[in-house]
Amino acid sequence: MATTAADKIILDASQGDESLADRNTHATRVAGKGADPDKKALFASVTKRIDYSPKIGTELHGIRLSQLTEQQSEELAAFIAERGVVWFRDQDDLDRKEQVKLGSRWGPLHVHPLVPHDQESPEVIVLDSRLSPPGRYNTNNSWHSDVSFEPAPSSFSILKFDVIPEAGGDTVWSNGYAVYDDLSPAIKTFLEGLTATHTSDIFRIFQANTGRKTFGKLNDSSHPVVRTNPVTGWKSIFTNPVFTREIDGVSAQESKWILDYLTDVITKRLDYQVRFHWEKGSVAIWDNRSTFHTGVADFRPHIRQGLRVTVSGEKPYFDKENSSTQAKAWAATAKTIVAKQEAAEKAKAEADGRASATTA
Ligand SMILES: [Fe+2]
Repeated sequence: MATTAADKIILDASQGDESLADRNTHATRVAGKGADPDKKALFASVTKRIDYSPKIGTELHGIRLSQLTEQQSEELAAFIAERGVVWFRDQDDLDRKEQVKLGSRWGPLHVHPLVPHDQESPEVIVLDSRLSPPGRYNTNNSWHSDVSFEPAPSSFSILKFDVIPEAGGDTVWSNGYAVYDDLSPAIKTFLEGLTATHTSDIFRIFQANTGRKTFGKLNDSSHPVVRTNPVTGWKSIFTNPVFTREIDGVSAQESKWILDYLTDVITKRLDYQVRFHWEKGSVAIWDNRSTFHTGVADFRPHIRQGLRVTVSGEKPYFDKENSSTQAKAWAATAKTIVAKQEAAEKAKAEADGRASATTA
């Protein structure tokens, strides 16, 4: 096996603690909430900002994730909640310990009940294409939000691959805020009253087929279909095809109809999606409360191997009275963009006018 950043991989609980994951808990504070809206401390270090799409996904250059100040890491948490996913290049010094340190600033770290982990740091999971065979047990080509089956699912995931496939193996994210925002008003109201059950069924099947012993209980949880992101206050759709089994309190047929429609929008609307190509040293950090993601399983027989740290968030909630939307925030941004365009056009017209007056 290729070298790994993990010290030693613990494949299942026969080599370790059977109740490790039962200690998982929820965040007691909202990382990024109340941070400077301009994020001046963070952007003082940024040398280049590349937005992959207007409403989701930004690559930041100039940041060393291993050396963020407390204020910068708070502003970064807020920025990730707004942009859904943020990428960094050349973070070779962000080793397993630094990944843990960064995640710990934002909340308690999640121990996965089934995915193999690093012996020294059980909250560091090892994603190795050789440990999860292709097919239905693999979340590649399967849209999800990390560990949504937990009572307190993940706020942020930090992912770094140490072995990059020679070709392929990209990751794609989809914008949950936009999925909500573009629904018709009547459907929004309808979905806002619903909850859905998220389950560990995919891991139960995997366990039954492989005989792997879990590191703790495999949880099922009910969560609101429309969720408020506690940092931005924006509403997002929070169901996904891997973990959401059913909409609560409706017939099986109705549940399938609702979930199929949302899955269709999440997975097929290219205008909600961004695709990231990994290089050595690349790191992705995303907000699981308001985005969905999938690996693109096109890279075998090349190998993809990396480490993920998953931060536990709050228990999901929907705040009908106090939530806002990304669409509303975007309308304000769009106005600024138009004003800038108009100012530039006016300045150009004036300059042209002066030039023609000079040449007349
Ligand atoms: Fe994932």
